[in-house]
Amino acid sequence: MCGILGYSGDRQASDILLAGLARLEYRGYDSAGIAALDSGTIKIAKNKGRLKVLEDRINAGDKVPGTCGIGHTRWATHGAPSDVNAHPLWSDDMAVVAVHNGIVENYREIREMLAKHGYTFYSQTDTEAAVKLIDYYYKQEKSPLKAITRAIKDIQGSYCFVMLFKDCPNEVWGARKDLPLIAGQGEGESFLASDVSAILQETRQVYYLDNMEIVQLKKGDVRFFDGEGYATIKEITEVTWDSNAAEKGGFDHFMMKEMYEQARAVKDTFGAVYHSGKIELTEHGLTDEAIKDISQIYIIACGSAYHAGAVAQYVIEDLAGIPVRIDTASEFRYRNMPMDKKALAVIISQSGETADTLAAMRRAKENGIKTLAIVNVVGSTIAREADSVFYTMAGPEIAVATTKAYSAQLIACYAIALKFAHVRGKIDDAECERLIAEIQKLPEKIDDILDAKDVLQEIAKKFTRSKNAFYLGRNIDYAVAMEGSLKMKEISYLHSEAIAAGEMKHGPISLIEKGMLVAGIMTQKELCKKTASNMLESKSRGGYLLIVAMKGCDALKDEADFVFTIPETDEHFAASLAVIPLQLLGYYVAVARKLDVDKPRNLAKSVTVE
Ligand code: AGP
Repeated sequence: MCGILGYSGDRQASDILLAGLARLEYRGYDSAGIAALDSGTIKIAKNKGRLKVLEDRINAGDKVPGTCGIGHTRWATHGAPSDVNAHPLWSDDMAVVAVHNGIVENYREIREMLAKHGYTFYSQTDTEAAVKLIDYYYKQEKSPLKAITRAIKDIQGSYCFVMLFKDCPNEVWGARKDLPLIAGQGEGESFLASDVSAILQETRQVYYLDNMEIVQLKKGDVRFFDGEGYATIKEITEVTWDSNAAEKGGFDHFMMKEMYEQARAVKDTFGAVYHSGKIELTEHGLTDEAIKDISQIYIIACGSAYHAGAVAQYVIEDLAGIPVRIDTASEFRYRNMPMDKKALAVIISQSGETADTLAAMRRAKENGIKTLAIVNVVGSTIAREADSVFYTMAGPEIAVATTKAYSAQLIACYAIALKFAHVRGKIDDAECERLIAEIQKLPEKIDDILDAKDVLQEIAKKFTRSKNAFYLGRNIDYAVAMEGSLKMKEISYLHSEAIAAGEMKHGPISLIEKGMLVAGIMTQKELCKKTASNMLESKSRGGYLLIVAMKGCDALKDEADFVFTIPETDEHFAASLAVIPLQLLGYYVAVARKLDVDKPRNLAKSVTVE
């Protein structure tokens, strides 16, 4: 997500902040800003666009003097990239100024409550609500610590805040929940950062804040408090990574780091539409009346986004009973098909800039079809041109091979499926609640699978020299097979095909050779036995059977060469778990082949040409 910094010491804060933010630029951002406290006045400079623009505007920091300050690079979530939505954000009398990483899920409720006390709002951000909530308590308590402890009790979501209080010279305050915040200890100075790579030039002595912990910097003095405001003692850690490894959070590759961010991405994406026990899509143009009125859904996307759409097709049809047609954008844009004006076109794209997807969406609009974009990058072209947008909350994705954005896209599709099913009377309240509870349990299960990754590393070694692989499945399992197969081919360069298991006998089986990887996905209990027969036919021709099975789908437990069991979930959401071992398999084969995992040959992160 965004990059965050704080500094308190004797040097000019702007120098430290601009240099630290530059080290966070690799993560991607759309705006940048800093603030510094000097003789009871806080000066702020911020803008949409590059850090260099900010640096030039403030004459490398001269126009923002002060030895204590905060900085931010923003990746928009609430409110488009703009000067006003850039951080830092301030309370009306500038008593509190803050930068924020994460999502305040209940910002609307907080705004409403504050509005009753005379607060007004100048930005479209969720952050402004939190800053003014802290200010509201600060006015009552006259203590930053008490104000922060009260505010974080009210704030729902994930966050990392770094704050200045106008009346507290030399002090920088921070608080975190579910997103990282690190305090760095120097000689007579101290630092805060969302990412250790931002402060590694300054110090290697750091403290990792725990969830709901609060920190106060005052020059070289660093103090910690728990969520109730009681002082805590923390152990200092020496960082031994080099700065390259630090950017990746200690992981060898961004792809692995991003796989580990999936649980958070899933939670935040669902949290963005789940309010007061209900999935709320009115802001996305989907009122109950609109949902009832839609005759069918067209899903349009490319690559992994298309694969997320393929899962969605099965889930929406089965849960909501509405016909779904899925097309790759490059096909849809040139197809001369009669279009149904009562259809909804769902456009899926991480970048929001993919040329084919954009052209296909424009084509749908020209034909009078309503468009809903599921997009990760706020303010991207697809997001701007769609009739409405459902933002996934994956944060910036750096590895070319998508993992966390795909996982977030699945969640957005599940939310749409459940909302349609409920509004159209296909599921009752109790079933809807049960399914929501299943979605909410996914993040923990995703992490459990990632924790078992070593076993896949071992298996991957077997395929270092392989030339071909098949991924088989039926229904949702086929959609997952497509994504697993793409992960394998795009980063490990091992030729791989996903095949609807029932199609094997119609041709592909002739390609099976001794030792060839045949991966079977088995999460749909009714269909497991069918896929099992196709897998056995491959085995009898020499295939190496690797099964990803949901607990209870144990049709091949004795015959398969290797079975990876994923935790149980409702079958509609099994793709979110089954894809994780397949991402890991592709990753580890690429690593074993010593390939550039994050930047595979011939591929770009965003395909902006046809
Ligand atoms: C997946 O790992 C690829 N990077 C690629 O297939 C990607 O999903 C596709 O190009 C679509 O991109 P988008 O989501 O940004 O539109």
